[in-house]
Amino acid sequence: MNSTTTTPRLAARADGLVGSVIDSSTSLLQKQKHDIVRFAMGSPAAEAVPTKLFSEIGAVVLGPDSAHAFDYAATEGDPGLRAQVLQMLSGTGEATTPERLTITSGGMQGIDLACKLYVDPGDLVVVESPTYTNGSATVMSYGGAVLEAPVDADGMVVEALADQVERAGRTPKAIYTIPNFQNPSGVTMSLTRRQQLLELARRWGSVIIDDDPYGLLRFQGEELPSLRELGQGESTVFSVRTFSKVLAPGLRVGWVDATPELAHLLINAKQAMDTCTNLPGQRLVEGFLAGGHLLEHVAGLRTEYHRRKVAMQAALVEHFGDVATWTDPDGGFFLWVTLNDEAADAQRLFEVGLAEGVAFIPGPAFSPGGSFGNAFRLCFASTTPERTAVGVARLRTAYDRVINEIR
Ligand SMILES: Cc1ncc(COP(=O)(O)O)c(C=O)c1O
Repeated sequence: MNSTTTTPRLAARADGLVGSVIDSSTSLLQKQKHDIVRFAMGSPAAEAVPTKLFSEIGAVVLGPDSAHAFDYAATEGDPGLRAQVLQMLSGTGEATTPERLTITSGGMQGIDLACKLYVDPGDLVVVESPTYTNGSATVMSYGGAVLEAPVDADGMVVEALADQVERAGRTPKAIYTIPNFQNPSGVTMSLTRRQQLLELARRWGSVIIDDDPYGLLRFQGEELPSLRELGQGESTVFSVRTFSKVLAPGLRVGWVDATPELAHLLINAKQAMDTCTNLPGQRLVEGFLAGGHLLEHVAGLRTEYHRRKVAMQAALVEHFGDVATWTDPDGGFFLWVTLNDEAADAQRLFEVGLAEGVAFIPGPAFSPGGSFGNAFRLCFASTTPERTAVGVARLRTAYDRVINEIR
């Protein structure tokens, strides 16, 4: 018998699996024993998760006689939840129809499905720069070649995109955007740019992956029509939505809204991924929506997250006013800090910050090309104003240590 072992060869696509600094920070932080103010994860505030309502609803829909609620669900989503989502959207700019709706395992599965359907190895895919790490990572997991489009205070700089694409020598297969309160920058794409982006996508035959987990969480400024609304149901727009930021990420319940021609492919693709979205989670969300709790809940979130953003900005003025600038989000969870000193290394700041008791995500995590070495993302949503003041003060101590190291 031959005693040598040949190592199984990995698929070529394994090279494209880049992982997520954001997700890895969850386990890194869980291992720390000292007090840390956590600005790293994009999680709702613990106090904002409607646990009391969930346990009341759960006592009914997941009670002793509910074995069926732990069964497999229909791939396109449990009928009760589908009906509630349609009802929730009716009368809004996002109103949709059953043929367009697929319930997913969170927003991430929506992004994955979009890439699975549209991105072949080598295809050009536009992403914002900076962008949501897991979004660009999904593109790359399908072998997509990422083109980073800069972002300013009005979102993706769409005016420059045609030139960028011309230089790339081919048109994009897909354009991945987070139009509202973008992760990580917190900026919102202007109406003009939304319209321009749609025009470019139509001309190029690109699909826009319209990822909007934070849209309901606007706490200031004027409501803008979504790309879904502006696209009026055309196949150019593939919309990804989730309950993770408004209810709770652990539910893993979201949906996609896409042209009905894709319905059977979405089902085929989802069946090859996870068969169905977890039914207990769907039943909890259904019960929450059916109970009419959403509007009041979201109104409370908007007020509280606004208060928290203002508190974070005040702390930044106090501790970073002389050394950094930051964005002013109209909603959502995040703001983006850029250090004036280009030599100030956000990755080193992360290490020193962790020792000082504060965590955030360094800028390069949000750029496949590793840009934004002197920038970082702060989540203001999950921390009380009092803790935010402590965390930003610690961050300044860490910053001074880092600057002393390079001087
Ligand atoms: C822009 C964006 N898209 C998608 C997701 C993923 O959502 P979910 O947790 O529902 O998979 C997130 C979560 O951070 C996000 O910020």
